[in-house]
Amino acid sequence: MEGRRVSESAAEYSELALPNDANMIGNLLGGKIMHLVDLAAAISATRHARNVCVTASVDHMEFLRPVKIGQWVRLRASVNRVFRTSMEVGVKVWVEDLITGVQQHVSSAYLTFVAIDANGRGVSVAPVIPETDDENRRYIKAGERRAYRLSQRKKDTP
Ligand SMILES: CC(C)(COP(=O)(O)OP(=O)(O)OC[C@H]1O[C@@H](n2cnc3c(N)ncnc32)[C@H](O)[C@@H]1OP(=O)(O)O)[C@@H](O)C(=O)NCCC(=O)NCCS
Repeated sequence: MEGRRVSESAAEYSELALPNDANMIGNLLGGKIMHLVDLAAAISATRHARNVCVTASVDHMEFLRPVKIGQWVRLRASVNRVFRTSMEVGVKVWVEDLITGVQQHVSSAYLTFVAIDANGRGVSVAPVIPETDDENRRYIKAGERRAYRLSQRKKDTP
C-alpha cells in the first residue's frame, strides 16, 4: 500500500469556549476539551486512512491551565505513525485570548485509532511518511509508546 505524507492528513479544529460548556467556577469543562481532542484526532485519522476509524485508546492527559469562557480553543492533530490497522494520532491544544492575543498551551494527547470495515473488523491502513525533523521524532516516539500501551493492554485482559 502506498504511503501518505503526514502533512496530507494533518487537521486543525477550533471552537470558542462558550458558557454552556462551563464548569462550576466558570472555566471550560475538561471533558469538553477531551471531546474536541477526540474530534480533531478522528478527522486526521480518517483523512489519512480514507476509511471509518474508531478511537481505541487515549493516553494520559493533563490540563496545564484553565480555559476561560470567551477564549478561542485551537487544536492541531496529525498521524504520528501507522502500525497495521491502528495508528497513533497526536493532538496539541492551545488557547488564544482574543483580546490580548496571548496564546498558551493547554494540553497534548496521543490517541490510537483503528480503521474498521462494515463488520467492525480492523483493516490495513496505508503507512505514513514522516518528512520533517519533528515528524521523524514523533514517528520514533510513537513506536515506544505503542510498546508500552500493548504491555498495559495485556495486563488488563482477564
Ligand atoms: C478498537 C477495536 C476495533 C479493536 O478491536 P480488537 O478486535 O479488540 O482489536 P485487535 O486485537 O484485533 O487489534 C486491532 C488493532 O488495534 C490495536 N489496539 C486495540 N486495542 C488497543 C488499545 N487499547 N490501545 C492501543 N491499540 C489498541 C491493536 O494493537 C491492533 O493494532 P495493529 O493492527 O495496528 O497491530 C475494538 O475494540 C472496538 O471496536 N472498540 C470500540 C471502539 C469505539 O467504539 N470507540 C468509541 C468510543 S466508545
